[in-house]
Amino acid sequence: MSLASTPSEPMLTGRRIVLGLTGSIAAYKSATLARELRRRGADVRVVMTPGATEFITPLTMATLVDHPVHSDFTEDQDAGVWTNHVELGIWGDLILVAPATANTLAAMVHGGCDNLLQAVLLSARCPVAVAPAMDLDMFTHDATQSNLATLKERGVDVIEPGTGPLASGLVGKGRMAEPEDIADHLEQWFAKDLPYAGKRVVITAGPTHEPLDAVRFLGNRSSGKMGFALAEALAAQGAEVTLVAGPVSLATPDRVHSRVDVSTAMDMNDAVQKIWPRMDLGIACAAVSDFRPAVTSEDKWHRGDVPPAVELIENPDILAGMGATKQHHQRLVGFALESDDGVASAEGKLARKNLDAIVLNSLRDAGAGFGHDTNKVSVLFQGGKSVSFELKSKYEVAQDLVELWRTTLNP
Ligand SMILES: Cc1cc2nc3c(=O)[nH]c(=O)nc-3n(C[C@H](O)[C@H](O)[C@H](O)COP(=O)(O)O)c2cc1C
Repeated sequence: MSLASTPSEPMLTGRRIVLGLTGSIAAYKSATLARELRRRGADVRVVMTPGATEFITPLTMATLVDHPVHSDFTEDQDAGVWTNHVELGIWGDLILVAPATANTLAAMVHGGCDNLLQAVLLSARCPVAVAPAMDLDMFTHDATQSNLATLKERGVDVIEPGTGPLASGLVGKGRMAEPEDIADHLEQWFAKDLPYAGKRVVITAGPTHEPLDAVRFLGNRSSGKMGFALAEALAAQGAEVTLVAGPVSLATPDRVHSRVDVSTAMDMNDAVQKIWPRMDLGIACAAVSDFRPAVTSEDKWHRGDVPPAVELIENPDILAGMGATKQHHQRLVGFALESDDGVASAEGKLARKNLDAIVLNSLRDAGAGFGHDTNKVSVLFQGGKSVSFELKSKYEVAQDLVELWRTTLNP
């Protein structure tokens, strides 16, 4: 998802990938793979073995990656112009061989240098990933399995093939992984270096609906945009994000690990209680109703038999519950939307609910709070420190907060 005002960058933006193609029927999938890698922001150069050019043309691949394809050691033999395989290996952040034939895998193990791709692999300084593609008997053969084991030992990332019908007509394991899955795999691979890699974060977002009768509820105007922007920004920084969403009409942001949809405060409380103990960071951004009708009518109220008064009872305080059970390694951030400047009230919540920080926005600030695509926030920390930001898009606010929490809370 891209939040209206400022979409996040694709996850492979700026990543330099050397895509090696070898002589497998699966080379046709590499066209889709190249497109997918580019769509996700990667800069791609293609190296093809002579065998690969039998299956898909260099022209197709060059057009897709918008760059000439390398397949020979020399570019112009008469003029003595040769392709600098060493440079390619240094240029790349990663070399991905997809499809990887049994032949090329074997050459990688014994250090073969019979073609340009092998030379690039032999001189590579960057990490290497392979996506094997072959018939099932070739794949399960001791030679191939032993080659793959050796490559793994040397740190090569092996993207396992899938199981299904093969070009030979047989059915089994050996199909090259699907281009989308390979691209997902690479995103995860690159994400391990991101600041929030390995961190598990739960975010609550949106309003809650507290039913009055069969069709009506008590709710509030929260759109969920701020919580969803935070989920997107944290996931882009490598966090494993679980989003607990009240009733909102927003798509799940890209790369969010899981989403739990709830309706009432009680449902949200149940979900959070189950998830929170496994998390490193909790962000309570939802506008949870503090109270609910004591009784919910199963039927729809009709004109003439509407109850003269509705008794309200308090909902559980989800944030206080998280604070009360917070473990030593966990960090907890609350949000407070106040109708005045709210500092005193926010400071009270910070202490009372055992929070590490509280993000304050005021309904008094134009462009801040419910429904807007922008927000203006201040963050108060335990110990008295506070940081204020200007009015920005909610995604930019989310990016600021994610960076601020990384440096101050060290989740
Ligand atoms: C139609 C056809 C399909 C092939 N498919 C594969 C394959 O999927 N996997 C594989 O390891 N070899 C396959 N081969 C064999 C390779 O093309 C052959 O081993 C070649 O030498 C590989 O060279 P390279 O690894 O330098 O590209 C196929 C051969 C043909 C003729």
